[in-house]
Amino acid sequence: MKERVEKALNDQIKKEGQSSQFYLAMASWAESNGLSGTSGFMYKQSEEERFHMLKLVKFINERGGIAIIPGFETPPTEFESVLNVFELLLSHEIVITESINDLVEVCLNEKDYTTHNFIQWYLSEQLEEEALARTILDKVKLIGEDKAGLYLFDRDLENSTIQITPANTVSPGA
Ligand code: FEO
Repeated sequence: MKERVEKALNDQIKKEGQSSQFYLAMASWAESNGLSGTSGFMYKQSEEERFHMLKLVKFINERGGIAIIPGFETPPTEFESVLNVFELLLSHEIVITESINDLVEVCLNEKDYTTHNFIQWYLSEQLEEEALARTILDKVKLIGEDKAGLYLFDRDLENSTIQITPANTVSPGA
């Protein structure tokens, strides 16, 4: 495996792991504030990010590289509101998408088409995760300060009745 590709993949391991910790902190905050739907959703997101990290670890090792297991910064323990949580979720996912795009560029520059192929899975994951975060954020914005609305929103999240809006899932050019 080319050094530049290995380094970029290892950087991505750290970002996925950091995302997992960040979402775990959100889940814990929501849980301690009685928001069981939001909490359950963020615990699940945290697990998914950990899975993204593990998939990279295994890929690097299987291709003869050395996966570096990083330490993580302590994420925040307090969040302003549910709105704040979902704003942070979306902005964080946008940053991760940019990072995956950079990774694609490194693969192409280094002519590593196997890794390029592997990374395509992450690109579609990002498309879905951004769309889901946007859909939820739009709903939270609509609710505003309405406490009853927030209660129902949290219950809907718990029952997983919030789905990605179809328009957001249409890929460019489709
Ligand atoms: Fe794995 Fe959503 O970044």
